[in-house]
Amino acid sequence: MISEYTIGKFREIETPFYFYDLDVLRSTLDTVRKESMHSGYQAHYALKANSNPRILRIISSYGLGADCVSWNEIAAALDAGFQPSGIVFAGVGKTDKDIEAALKTEISCFNCESIPEIEVINELASRQNKTAPIALRINPYIEAHTHKYITTGIEESKFGINTWEIDEVIRRLAALKNVRLIGIHFHIGSQISRMSVFKSLCARINELQDWFSEHGINLTSINVGGGLGIDYENPEKKPLFEEYFSLLNDFINLRPGQTLHLEPGRSVIGQCGSLISRVLFIKNGSNTLFAIIDAGMTDLIRPALYQAHHRIDNLTSKGHIYRYDVVGPVCETSDTFAKYIELPETKRGDIIAIRSAGAYGEAMASRYNLRNLPAAVFSDDLA
Ligand code: LLP
Repeated sequence: MISEYTIGKFREIETPFYFYDLDVLRSTLDTVRKESMHSGYQAHYALKANSNPRILRIISSYGLGADCVSWNEIAAALDAGFQPSGIVFAGVGKTDKDIEAALKTEISCFNCESIPEIEVINELASRQNKTAPIALRINPYIEAHTHKYITTGIEESKFGINTWEIDEVIRRLAALKNVRLIGIHFHIGSQISRMSVFKSLCARINELQDWFSEHGINLTSINVGGGLGIDYENPEKKPLFEEYFSLLNDFINLRPGQTLHLEPGRSVIGQCGSLISRVLFIKNGSNTLFAIIDAGMTDLIRPALYQAHHRIDNLTSKGHIYRYDVVGPVCETSDTFAKYIELPETKRGDIIAIRSAGAYGEAMASRYNLRNLPAAVFSDDLA
């Protein structure tokens, strides 16, 4: 809940801005740390969800590793106190420059998505006289039942190595002296709400593990990626970490000496952030009332890009309930946060919170229309 005191403070601040409730973040991190320690798993926070430096420092202080997709993310992780030994590097299109810098830093693992990529890493590692630890990101062909743009583990996905190519990869690896296969990696999609999807992934991992064992290949790292969803209807609700961890405990057969890794992003940071905005105008449409707010798709692109629904609260009105289309100022029809939603009577100057916006909100902001990037405000500073 956003307190009356905090709402009072919001009135003094220029909008739009992201508000991060750091108590919510810390309590989420407590749970992730407790569950990981209890199971002996290593969680790597996926920086792409939110790489605000202050947020990163808090997350690193809980002992999590980092999942990065560019050298700039690795550098941000290092600056925030993450250890190279806890950093994994993913992505279908790693550049030579990024690979070289990551090799120099001696990160813990390159999650590799194709044979050509492995060959390039081998070549660049040999120039540095190093052996790069790698994991194969395998496409397990599992439907994640989430939005198609964030589904990543089905046949037509650009991500991961096809299962029918694994034989070939292993044959090629024999000749590559500067890479060392340490594990397998998966990530089948994001905002996954059906636990049964993760159960299917576990079953697939067990099958693949058998294949590697039969071929005499010893893996020490099993990485299940991220994907645990959050409840966008109920911003106060915590992600289902306990269920998720116990499912992994119950269904993945780890072999002696193996560590299970995971890469949560949204579930760590999503519920602690809200995008705070002011109402500029109420305008009559032919069939609706538009509440035009000063935040737009440049601040939070998820509704425009994935038809995502975020709960919207009017923090400063307790009037009668009416229906509104809540829209931003950007010159695009998709700059719409919600259609025909119930809000208490809304007027110019009211303060609006778009909830559950901590993940893929600030991180995906742009300067389209030459708008300013949204600022970040932290609960600790308002106390
Ligand atoms: N690991 C890998 C390899 C990933 O590609 C991702 C997210 C994660 C971990 C973290 O997944 P999470 O736990 O956050 O679901 N912009 C989209 C989400 C894109 C996710 C991309 N990959 C959105 O706003 O819904």
